[in-house]
Amino acid sequence: MKSTLDRTRLRELMDRELARFEQGHPRSRELFERGKANLLGGVPMPWMTEWAGPYPVFVAEAQGARFTDVDGREYVDLCLGDTGGMTGHAPKEAVAAIAEQAAKGITLMLPTEDSIWVGAEMQRRFGLPYWQFCLTATDANRFTIRLARAITGRPKILVYNYCYHGSVDETIITIEDGVAGPRPGNVGPPIDPTETTRVVEFNDLDALEEALAHEDVACVLAEPALTNIGIVLPDPGYHDALRELTREHGTYLVIDETHCICAGPGGATKAWGLQPDFLTIGKPLASGVPAATYGMTEEVARRASAYLQTLPTTDVGGIGGTLSGNALSLAAMRATLEHVLTDEAFDRMIALGERWSHGVKDAIEQHALPWNVQRLGCRAEYWFTPDPPRNGGEAAANDDHELARYTHLYALNRGILLTPFHNMALMSPATTEEDVDAHSSVFDEMAAELAR
Ligand SMILES: Cc1ncc(COP(=O)(O)O)c(C=O)c1O
Repeated sequence: MKSTLDRTRLRELMDRELARFEQGHPRSRELFERGKANLLGGVPMPWMTEWAGPYPVFVAEAQGARFTDVDGREYVDLCLGDTGGMTGHAPKEAVAAIAEQAAKGITLMLPTEDSIWVGAEMQRRFGLPYWQFCLTATDANRFTIRLARAITGRPKILVYNYCYHGSVDETIITIEDGVAGPRPGNVGPPIDPTETTRVVEFNDLDALEEALAHEDVACVLAEPALTNIGIVLPDPGYHDALRELTREHGTYLVIDETHCICAGPGGATKAWGLQPDFLTIGKPLASGVPAATYGMTEEVARRASAYLQTLPTTDVGGIGGTLSGNALSLAAMRATLEHVLTDEAFDRMIALGERWSHGVKDAIEQHALPWNVQRLGCRAEYWFTPDPPRNGGEAAANDDHELARYTHLYALNRGILLTPFHNMALMSPATTEEDVDAHSSVFDEMAAELAR
């Protein structure tokens, strides 16, 4: 169901914003055209075609919560590399550690002492005692799923409708018109994901119980709250029931904290007292240097070690990679956790998330728009619906791509960058009240014009 805006007027406003964008970004256009000679679609990665303008802005430099583009325009960055830059760009302690380690050797396929510090810090934050390192959250999820399947001997996993856990084939599945199948948009799925995966709606305990009752599910892979189809929070008691049901059916619970780290220094796991068997996280852990990790309980570690000992070799095990656990990632992770994404930083970031939400909510109320705002710690998001959706299916049905493109381009033209796939803003340790208020005032202007 789409909001009842005057679409003709919306298109006229969008044309005005497109013209403004083109006028203000000639150098980005030039680079984009040049890029087409050697880059598919003119960009280094397909997602970079998803921005609201006709071409992406090319970045000259980023510092803290701001960046400058090649046309000399400055932006408040509320996208922060879709969480990869949640530390703020180029935090000085991490940059120093990265430079120092780069000069001392980047990758050796041998451990460095930093790995021990980081393992202990992960336990302090998330409670799980044993950790392994890799380069992306996708890999952390992939490796965890493999281990869960191997040690339970069960073939399937379970995920939520419209979840996102990276490019993990088993997870790219949706329910369309009541039928599970490959998610629209997935490129070349290797097999029908219903062969590997059960999928249910978030917050639907009956569906979860029915799916687990087959006792063929090795693990549930869950974000504590959905964050990739907008923020969808769990119903009260949902996580307790999820934990109870997974235990009852011998299914492991994997909590993916890659985005929900926004809830606090120990993510939603610590903030809400979750008790996962495995935990996965990547993206901001090393201030933008590729780094990710997965943790496990004592019981899982014991079973995993026993299983791994039965293998003739681990190098084709599918749970590692040449660059995994490299010295540079670990040094960057240590500096990030020790000095940047600290407990104190989260207090400030979460207060800014609240401030951002209030700014948006005030404008929504002031201009009587049928929208709402949802928040998880230092991540917040507006929805074009009066109430927040309760699950991925509802969220996807309420997607209003045309309106989102407009609100994003409006903000971009006025120096604010939002996350392209949804209406989301993230606060970093470097974000200021002034940055947040800049968004509130642009959002208010935009809302006033739309409501007219
Ligand atoms: C919850 C979650 N898990 C995993 C991933 C995958 O991260 P990456 O693309 O860095 O592998 C993402 C990416 O958006 C994510 O949101």
